[in-house]
Amino acid sequence: MSASTFPGGLKPKSITKSAAKPVTLNVNGQDRRLTIAPWTTLLDALRDHLDLTGTKKGCDHGQCGACTVILDGRRVVSCLTLAVMKDGAKITTVEGLAVDGALHPVQQAFIDHDAFQCGYCTPGQICSAVCLIAEGKAKTADEIRELMSGNICRCGAYPNIVAAIHQAMAAMEAKP
Ligand code: FES
Ligand code: FES
Repeated sequence: MSASTFPGGLKPKSITKSAAKPVTLNVNGQDRRLTIAPWTTLLDALRDHLDLTGTKKGCDHGQCGACTVILDGRRVVSCLTLAVMKDGAKITTVEGLAVDGALHPVQQAFIDHDAFQCGYCTPGQICSAVCLIAEGKAKTADEIRELMSGNICRCGAYPNIVAAIHQAMAAMEAKP
């Protein structure tokens, strides 16, 4: 068998076409209908099929948190999530956090505290922090560090990230 064919003489492209499945994802408030191979990750669906490249691919193995998005209110690593398994799910990416041009308090706090250097981990950090605050389990710096430990920052911006999350937490708690 040549490297470019599968059993039965099928070419990879024809397998992809015949195996493609329909899925509807509600992304940042809009229903998006896709027909994709069943092995397409949510990360690839967002980046390659919906052009939402704010969500980053780091390790692609669930180990760095760069691909974190909010799925039905919970933070998930989108590189380990199959898109077809999430039909009808509500997904928020970093592109969907601002409302009417106003940054989300976590986005604003990251800017205020210079909580990034290269910025590659930042969309995942921000989505994760939004959920962390909603979970209400972290109050101290140690608790923030522990519950954000799935989001790696290779630039080592951790002190600023923790400070930013503290600020956002206070801002969101102060809201009526
Ligand atoms: S790219 Fe998903 S956890 Fe690293
Ligand atoms: S800001 Fe560069 S990896 Fe976090």
